[in-house]
Amino acid sequence: MLEARDIVVAFGSFRAVDGASLSIGKGEIIGLIGPNGAGKSTFFNCLAGDRQPASGTIMLRGHDVTRATPEEHARLGLARSWQVPAVFDDLSVLENVMVGAFLRHPRTADAVAAAEKVIDFTGLRPIAAARSGSLGTPARKRLEIARALATEPEILLLDEALAGLTPTEVRAAIELVRRIHARGITLVIVEHVMEVILSLANRAVVFHQGKVIAQGAPKDVVQDPGVIEAYLGRSLNRKARA
Ligand SMILES: Nc1ncnc2c1ncn2[C@@H]1O[C@H](COP(=O)(O)OP(=O)(O)O)[C@@H](O)[C@H]1O
Ligand SMILES: [Mg+2]
Repeated sequence: MLEARDIVVAFGSFRAVDGASLSIGKGEIIGLIGPNGAGKSTFFNCLAGDRQPASGTIMLRGHDVTRATPEEHARLGLARSWQVPAVFDDLSVLENVMVGAFLRHPRTADAVAAAEKVIDFTGLRPIAAARSGSLGTPARKRLEIARALATEPEILLLDEALAGLTPTEVRAAIELVRRIHARGITLVIVEHVMEVILSLANRAVVFHQGKVIAQGAPKDVVQDPGVIEAYLGRSLNRKARA
């Protein structure tokens, strides 16, 4: 479904993504984990066409999309959410979802109808008419997912869509992710809470210093000494700096 090979992204002399490869099969839920600064969001940006890698190739459903625009990715069935929600504050929740729906439904009436379905599916009905700028983080994150779903993707990339939520909100978000998957949508989720990875993902992929350093069954990966070291090394450094 999506195949990234030897992706490199450099900011000056610093390689945020340093030869990362990942192959994603149809129907998977991949949990992408790794310490802050590991390059996960930058890698996502490449997968979604929001940044072009310096080198490497990305194939999406048989098409070379390495240099394709975000819109071309969306047309081919890839959607993403942003780590920092990028909703249009002055639009209502429904109108934001319509922005996604217009991709496949150019006529306004059709876009409204499609967006309404997504509003119901994502539980946003009670706030459909609210101005998006008035929403708190949990609702904005859900709206991001709704707008992405409205493009009718086959593969959805979620970048920390569950971060900053309360335990109750996390449970609701996990339930939503399961229902999205049940629709046949392939998922890649960046997530720090291990319980989420363990309960949702069929495969965990660990990013560290711009590379995939481990992958496999989530329960095995979280016990991998190299993975534990990658996390601990960072948190110890951070304590030392604080
Ligand atoms: N636009 C940018 N310009 C310069 N450095 C960046 C930029 N975006 C990300 N970085 C750096 O690249 C590294 C990886 O960042 P990011 O992909 O956001 O990591 P993650 O999502 O895993 O926390 C970090 O060190 C970050 O500071
Ligand atoms: Mg990130």
